[in-house]
Amino acid sequence: MIIAIDGPSGAGKSTLGKMLAKEFGLLYLDTGAMYRAAALTVIKAGASLEDRQKVAEIAANAKIELTGEPDSMRVLLDGEDVTAEIRTPDAATAASVVSTISEVRKIMVEHQRAIGESATKGCVLEGRDIGSVVFPNADIKFFLTAKPEARARRRFAEDQAKGRTTSYEKTLEEINRRDERDVSRSDSPLTIPQNATVIDTSELDLKDVFDLMLEKINAHRASA
Ligand code: DC
Repeated sequence: MIIAIDGPSGAGKSTLGKMLAKEFGLLYLDTGAMYRAAALTVIKAGASLEDRQKVAEIAANAKIELTGEPDSMRVLLDGEDVTAEIRTPDAATAASVVSTISEVRKIMVEHQRAIGESATKGCVLEGRDIGSVVFPNADIKFFLTAKPEARARRRFAEDQAKGRTTSYEKTLEEINRRDERDVSRSDSPLTIPQNATVIDTSELDLKDVFDLMLEKINAHRASA
């Protein structure tokens, strides 16, 4: 079973994706973490994010691995644990730039398909192009969204809990800038995939969203 979860940053994709993976014993793949790791290799190599050819070359040669259970997933870049490093605001911004490069997307999509297809019981993949490009024939597709203010509030609370110094206004500004880049890029822009169930999580708590998703998945399994 392949479950695709797409949507903008901060809509709850990761938390809910992990919950679903645990519920059904599926592999969990955070594809954003792969773009973040690719961006980090470019930063570490000292290359300019604007040099598209160089960025693609570096990303093609990077060995990106995601290991462990959904709740304790580690991201390895050429064998080095970069789990914490890829979560900084700088890595997020770099990832959103790197992810506009078609050659990079091609490498990532192939890698993601291979991982999803090799998962014995199936896989929950979350990202921006899962239901539209990576697995257009996914068994179930969700598009989670929320108002920018709600997403910024959540992201700001997460950052505060991690001890990061930032402000709500700056977080909202970053979210708006990333949204703009995600929806306006020419290759695989963020869109609602065909046949996706859209859930606006702005006013819902986690349990409500999880129950809605479970209902949909169980209905699909009953009809399969
Ligand atoms: O979900 P995230 O914030 O970790 O994603 C980081 C960046 O990667 C984000 O700007 C969008 C991009 N991305 C993408 O283009 N396609 C995906 N499938 C996943 C993420």
